[in-house]
Amino acid sequence: MRLKAKSAIVTGAASGFGAAIAERFAAEGARVVVADLNEAQGQAVAQRIGGVFVRCDVSRAEDVQALVQTAVQAYGRLDIVVNNAGVTHVNKPHLDVTEDEFDRLYRVNVKSLFHMNRAAVPAMRANPGGSSGVFVNVASTTGVRPGPGLCWYSGSKGAVITTSKGLALELARENIRVCVVNPMIGETAMLEQFMGMPDTPENRQRFLARIPLGRFTQPADVAGAALYLASDEAGFLTGVCLDVDGGRNI
Ligand SMILES: NC(=O)c1ccc[n+]([C@@H]2O[C@H](COP(=O)([O-])OP(=O)(O)OC[C@H]3O[C@@H](n4cnc5c(N)ncnc54)[C@H](O)[C@@H]3O)[C@@H](O)[C@H]2O)c1
Repeated sequence: MRLKAKSAIVTGAASGFGAAIAERFAAEGARVVVADLNEAQGQAVAQRIGGVFVRCDVSRAEDVQALVQTAVQAYGRLDIVVNNAGVTHVNKPHLDVTEDEFDRLYRVNVKSLFHMNRAAVPAMRANPGGSSGVFVNVASTTGVRPGPGLCWYSGSKGAVITTSKGLALELARENIRVCVVNPMIGETAMLEQFMGMPDTPENRQRFLARIPLGRFTQPADVAGAALYLASDEAGFLTGVCLDVDGGRNI
């Protein structure tokens, strides 16, 4: 039990990487709040793992405040926050991305961190036994190594990485760590949007050819990395950005 009795929030936990993270955390003893816009799937995940579901739009301050309150009320403390909820625009030339798409990207991928820190840091400071906690923020390999067609998405994930490193420095003396996981293209609902073309075996091969370990990121890969960073085994790691990419970023 690597997260025994820890209290955790996982955003975007109704599907894909977030659902796998929530399930893995629960299997390792954490008490998990599943947060998502998708009520049906979020409820189902929470039920499966014996957690609590909160419908939450991470781009809205009041939703995020209520989410943190629920976690503290339910479990008496807040140890771990995984900021995983995210959106992309379809892979296309940067001038074809609309202003609405751009604003949504930054609201969901970047401003959500602003709202979450304002709600979660005070809760972590108030933990019984003293200030402590860890944030694991899900960015992307494209935040380090952008490719054509995903410029604005990549920029939003670059902002997540840089902001996380700054937060790691600012919060270190309060025993609050901030780490990042960078998945590579993964087999989730987002796959087709990232490819920007139909999900056929031939098109998949074009992307797979660029990944040294020869496969897409699986939700379990991201869950394993998030588990390690959130656990006490990583107690001396902060500001770390872990590529979960089969060697793509080398
Ligand atoms: N799949 C990939 O190829 C890939 C690669 C690198 C990074 N990522 C990142 O991984 C994270 C998870 O993505 P995924 O691939 O599992 O996709 P996914 O679409 O399966 O899951 C994303 C979840 O976030 C939820 N969500 C979206 N907007 C929300 C909001 N405003 N408030 C609350 N919940 C919201 C969705 O309902 C969904 O359940 C994202 O941050 C994504 O950018 C994905």
